[in-house]
This record gives sequence, C-alpha cells and structure tokens, in this order.
Amino acid sequence: MSVFPKDFLWGGATAANQFEGAWDVDGKGPSVPDMCTNGTHTVPKWVTTYTHPDRLYPSHEAIDFYHHYEEDIALFAEMGFKTFRLSINWTRIYPTGMEEQPNEAGLAFYDRVFDCCKKHNIEPLVTISHYELPYALVEKYNGWEGRELIEYYERYCKTIFARYKGKVKYWLTFNEINAGVMPMGTVLSTGTIRGYDGPITEVPDRPQERFQALHHQFLASAKVIKYAHENYPEYKMGNMIAFGMSYPSTPDPADMIENQQHMNMFNWFCSDVQVRGEYPYFAKRYFADHDIHVKTEPGDEQILKEGCIDFYTFSYYMTNCITTHEVEDTAGGNLLGGVKNPYLKASDWGWQIDPMGLRYTLNEIYGRYQIPLMVVENGLGAYDVKGEDGKIHDSYRIDYLREHIAQMAEAVKDGVDLMGYTPWGCIDLVSASTGEMAKRYGFIYVNKFDDGSGDLSRERKDSFFWFKKVIASNGEDLA
Ligand code: BG6
Repeated sequence: MSVFPKDFLWGGATAANQFEGAWDVDGKGPSVPDMCTNGTHTVPKWVTTYTHPDRLYPSHEAIDFYHHYEEDIALFAEMGFKTFRLSINWTRIYPTGMEEQPNEAGLAFYDRVFDCCKKHNIEPLVTISHYELPYALVEKYNGWEGRELIEYYERYCKTIFARYKGKVKYWLTFNEINAGVMPMGTVLSTGTIRGYDGPITEVPDRPQERFQALHHQFLASAKVIKYAHENYPEYKMGNMIAFGMSYPSTPDPADMIENQQHMNMFNWFCSDVQVRGEYPYFAKRYFADHDIHVKTEPGDEQILKEGCIDFYTFSYYMTNCITTHEVEDTAGGNLLGGVKNPYLKASDWGWQIDPMGLRYTLNEIYGRYQIPLMVVENGLGAYDVKGEDGKIHDSYRIDYLREHIAQMAEAVKDGVDLMGYTPWGCIDLVSASTGEMAKRYGFIYVNKFDDGSGDLSRERKDSFFWFKKVIASNGEDLA
C-alpha cells in the first residue's frame, strides 16, 4: 500500500512570467521580469529600465502558454495531475498595479485556464505573486519599499478572490518570500531597484530597503489571509519558502553557530512570521548587528498575528554547507551559494543534489510548525539532447525525482503531514536565475531555444511516461 495519502496532490509547478509569454497582449502591463534580458550560467542576465529593441527578453514570448494552455493542460491531465501550480500575473489584472478597475481581458484569460483545469479535474494551486511585480511600482515606489504597495496588493487579491471563487481553493501569497533576505531577492522579489540598469549580479545591495520591503510583504500577506479567512472560509492560504537547508562543514562549534544563524535568517525568519504571526526572537539582534531599522506603524503587530497561514509550502533543489574556515571552492545556487559538500554530486549548474536532505528538511519544518506541508518545487535543471530517435531520454531527471520521492515517502512514514508534490517546470520554461531555455526541468519538451528560435511544439520526454506511472500508483511504483 502506498504511504502517500489517497488524496495526495501530485502535479507540477510553473510561474506566469516564465512560461506565459504574451507579455503585452490584451492590456497586460510590464512586470519586473519583462525588463530582464536573457543570460547564461556564466553570463548574468540584465535588468534594464526600458526594453531595448535589439536585446532578447525571454519572458516576452517564453513558451507561449497564453496561446497553448489547452494543449498543455491536456498533457498535464494525461500524466494524471491532480493539481497544477501556476501564478497569476499581477500586470494582466492591474497593468501598473495602481488602476482602480481591473483589466477584464486579463481576468478572462485565467477564467479560461481554470475552466480548462476543471474540465480535466485538476485543482489549481495559485501563487498570487511569483516574482512578477508591476514595473510601474518599481518606478514609483522603489518596489515593496513603499508601504503603499500593501494596499495595491490587497486590491489585486480581493479582485482575484472574488472572481475565481468556486474555481480556486489553494492560494500562496508570495513565492519564495525569503528571497528578500538575500541580495538576489532585490530584483526577483522586493523590486527595490528603482533606476537600476545592469547585470542582476551587480545590483546595489541595500539590506535596509530589503527588510523594509519584507515587512510590507509580511503585512500584505497577513492582511489578505485574514480577509480570505473571513470572507472565503473554503480557501486554504499558504506561504512559500525557498528552503536552503545547510549543514555545518565541520563539527567545529564555530561552524555550528554559523550554520544555525544562517538557518535562522535564511530559512526560518520569514516562516516564523507567517506561521506564528510575529518576528522571531533572533531578528532583534540580527537587525541591531546589521544596522537595520524597520519602520513599523501602530497595529502592525496585530495584523501579523491575525493573518497566519493554513499550510506551509517550499521549494527544494539542493543543500549547501556553511563554515567559518577557509575554503577553495563554493557551490552554486539561484539565491545563495555555500560550501561544497564532498558527499554530494551537483547538477551542471553546480546545484548540489541531496535527496536525503529532503527527508531531513521535511522533518525539520514539520517538527517546528506541525502544520500540513507541501513541496511545491523540486527538480533537475539539465541540458536535454535528443537521441537518434528524435526523443528525449532523460534518465538523469527520472533518477533525481525518483530519489526525492523515495525520501518524501520516508518523511511521511516518519509522521510528516505532507499534502502534495509539484515538481518545478513540469513543462520546459525560462530559467528564473539565468533567463535561459537551455536549463530544462520539464516532463514536456518545448521546441524553444536561447536565441529565441523554435516552433514552440511540445513533446513528451521519457520522464513524462515515468511520472504518469508514479501518479497512477500514488507514488508506489518508482521503477
Ligand atoms: C525557484 C523559483 O527559485 O527556482 C522559480 O521559484 C525558479 O521561479 C526555480 O525557476 C528554478 O530556478 P532556475 O533559476 O533554475 O529557474
């Protein structure tokens, strides 16, 4: 008998800006990723203040889910998906984020998408904000540094909550909200980049702005959760954390402390606020040591207390090591790097592969919070090359996923309450960190390449048929 609950939510995950394309269609406004050029593993993508006609902006066409959604959702259904994680692109609904009235054509698009999911008995899992801040809010308020954004976000949420009642039940307020703790989050998440034009790796880092922005995101998240709980009791409201499990490199107590502090700020800081409704005890010292002064208003504490999440979700790709000792080599990652772990292999992008670490992570999170968990991103970004028969034989991806699912099963046996699993980029899409197509995660291959060429046709990889079997057996048949 399968160890996974019988209503386990098997599926896949995506984000609007990485796969919809149609960036300026039907009234959509530009969001931050629409201002980002392509890059590679070694050449950073740029964020620009206007769209240069001679440069490539991968989000503009992406894989054109906007015009292929019926075909794509039918393929997900063929694999047996129970759920499909996608984000709503804020600028389809409010093109600058500041309009009084929503854009009907944008709302209608997601009606079509959710209706199509319903037709196939697929439950949507919606990320409300997945690295898709309206660019106009960057220009006017320096992104989430502006407290005004809370109100705009609330307006946006109230609109989609009302519109998709009966179609959507599971909502995540912010993708990887803890990105704001790291310099990389400046572009992707907090949008505190007013006036910046240059490589994303060189964005000036201003922690004061990032943490102010995060405070506003916490308030925005809590406010809409409270609103949903009061007005839509059937809605389940979740958070989303980029979980970067780390181990001390050595048993040196100094490494233990270093790692504990890293774990506290990178992994626990945001979710402590979102699960427990207050800043964790260790925030005070961190702010003092880093000269960070978050401006608050009377009533903020109460708001955080009243808007706690119902379930906890996270992405899991890799683990890293932390040390106080001199090291020669670092490991890769999209939000953070770290020190190499000699016991682990890494992907072509240097992300260290650690299936057992997923079991450890699930136990750590569940041990701390004891609320239902969901793994909403996991997967192997890899170069896929067609075989002589013209097909993608991605046994490396199957191996990666198989080992992670086996460890999830162990965690369930350990007693963790796990609701579901949606591997990242279930259909090939644009990479968030590098802006390239060559880094593929999908079960479905998309004929689209880094230079923008490709006819956008879809093909099933070997992993497609394998995952179909996994779902049909509720995770029992991993062969
Ligand atoms: C997560 C993001 O950080 O990792 C996704 O939520 C992203 O948006 C995914 O695509 C994988 O990262 P990358 O850089 O390989 O696309």
